[in-house]
Amino acid sequence: MGYNLLKGKRGIIFGALNDKSIAWKVAERAVEEGAQITLSNAPIALRMGQINALGEKLNAKVIAADATSVEDLEKVFSESTEALGGKIDFVLHSIGMSPNVRKNKPYDDIDYKLLDTTLNISAISFHKMLQVAKKQDAIAEYGSIVALTYIASQRAIFGYNDMADAKALLESIARSFGYIYGTEKHVRINTISQSPTMTTAGSGIKGFDSFVDFAEKMSPLGNATAEDCANYCMAMFSDLTRKVTMQNLYHDGGFSSMGISAEVMEKYNSGK
Ligand SMILES: NC(=O)c1ccc[n+]([C@@H]2O[C@H](COP(=O)([O-])OP(=O)(O)OC[C@H]3O[C@@H](n4cnc5c(N)ncnc54)[C@H](O)[C@@H]3O)[C@@H](O)[C@H]2O)c1
Repeated sequence: MGYNLLKGKRGIIFGALNDKSIAWKVAERAVEEGAQITLSNAPIALRMGQINALGEKLNAKVIAADATSVEDLEKVFSESTEALGGKIDFVLHSIGMSPNVRKNKPYDDIDYKLLDTTLNISAISFHKMLQVAKKQDAIAEYGSIVALTYIASQRAIFGYNDMADAKALLESIARSFGYIYGTEKHVRINTISQSPTMTTAGSGIKGFDSFVDFAEKMSPLGNATAEDCANYCMAMFSDLTRKVTMQNLYHDGGFSSMGISAEVMEKYNSGK
């Protein structure tokens, strides 16, 4: 159900690959809430994924961009302001990839060239996005920029590998840039720390089913789904959260405040 929370707003959604993607759900909800949007993803995702179908359905221009390329990002922001007819009110960074994870390299034996790629795609792309947006003065006053992160940035979670370092950097960029962009242009920048969610990126992590099951049993409200995350993004993009910036916001059914739950204790005691 829509509440017209984003009526008249313009947004850019990065990272919708298929209908499992968190960005896909965010794009659908944003349009339902009255926004006009553009979509962007890597050229290979445009060829292999289903983003073009989403673009047609939502009447949204799809702009190919490798998020590690400043030139490509410049194109996304200039073409978006042109296509949408004005400054951008909200941006979602929903991008992550680790070649070390893909190649099953353990954290204590990672390839450093691949680490560069992980950091560049999953974190530095966020800085590039913000720098391009600011240089073009493409974001409206009190515009809201959100990137998606995971709690492995703050706690050791076995198997999340170098993505944990990328997420720590991503969250730090949100704070450091958030100060500058907030003071100079009243633009707010936050990260949402989402529950493990069954998507293409998520299921690439070794033992991901166990992550999901464990988090479900630990969280008093259960895991937050991709649809729940899209709803939270609506609140963050709306004018109802105008004074929230530089925060890492947990959206995880309470997981981040737990030590051990009765359900996990029971499973442990039963030896299953
Ligand atoms: N799935 C989870 O459990 C979970 C939990 C917390 C946070 N997140 C984060 O949510 C975000 C979205 O992931 P998802 O789970 O929806 O999976 P997803 O695989 O659907 O999305 C990842 C996206 O990153 C894009 N991407 C990769 N390299 C790129 C590049 N060079 N340029 C532009 N785009 C590129 C992919 O094409 C894809 O669309 C990621 O940042 C992820 O780390 C996911």
